Amino acid sequence: MKWIKVSNYKDLSEEAAKIMKERINNKPNLTIGLATGSTPEGLYKELIKAYKQGELSFSEVTSYNLDEYIGLDINSPQSYYQFMFQKLFNNVDIQKEKIHIPNGNTKDLQVECVQYEELIKNSGGIDIQVLGIGNNGHIAFNEPGTSFDAKTHVVELDESTIAANARFFNNKDEVPVQAITMGIGTIMKSKEILLLISGKGKQEAIEKLKSGVVTEDFPASILHKHPNVTVIITNN
Ligand code: F6R
Repeated sequence: MKWIKVSNYKDLSEEAAKIMKERINNKPNLTIGLATGSTPEGLYKELIKAYKQGELSFSEVTSYNLDEYIGLDINSPQSYYQFMFQKLFNNVDIQKEKIHIPNGNTKDLQVECVQYEELIKNSGGIDIQVLGIGNNGHIAFNEPGTSFDAKTHVVELDESTIAANARFFNNKDEVPVQAITMGIGTIMKSKEILLLISGKGKQEAIEKLKSGVVTEDFPASILHKHPNVTVIITNN
């Protein structure tokens, strides 16, 4: 696990964008895994800037998002679908048919999970996966206690995750209680992982990750077993 400590959020976003730009320019038909949440927003702004300056193109890129709420309309401003289109996809030249976000509004969620996993496999796997980390150590929506082997599945969100995500809704009761998420097993198959950590609220998670103890009680700890992880971190 390679750690890059930077002094502020802007540097974190620029550093992450530098890596993503390099990977996409090296392999224009890259398959990328993307996260939502506050942490990668700056990265997406930097990627849009680079695209507008003609420094990179997403025209051959395939993307897979980590997760989506269950039961939230895709047109709802809090859906991860809307997040991704507003914060990145609408502003770059990615082809719509190459964008994949789990569908949390389908009748058969189990089928959706199996199909999502198959799609990733048929794309040749994820070349580089961007991750954030939850205060409780979750990656994607794999909450503490999730099996390290899990594939794409339906989850019940932790109380702490619901509380953390309530900031995007009018109140806590509006936050969906379930989500569909790539599993830890799915994430671990990515060839490369870029974990972005920003914010004071992440201190406990940072300490636990740094301790090196690998346990299902702290999902991000599995990343110690992946051969190609870069953590970009700022305390600010
Ligand atoms: C989002 C996701 C989550 C977030 C995590 C951190 O797609 O999978 O695991 O990365 O909850 O969220 P922020 O960045 O808002 O602190």
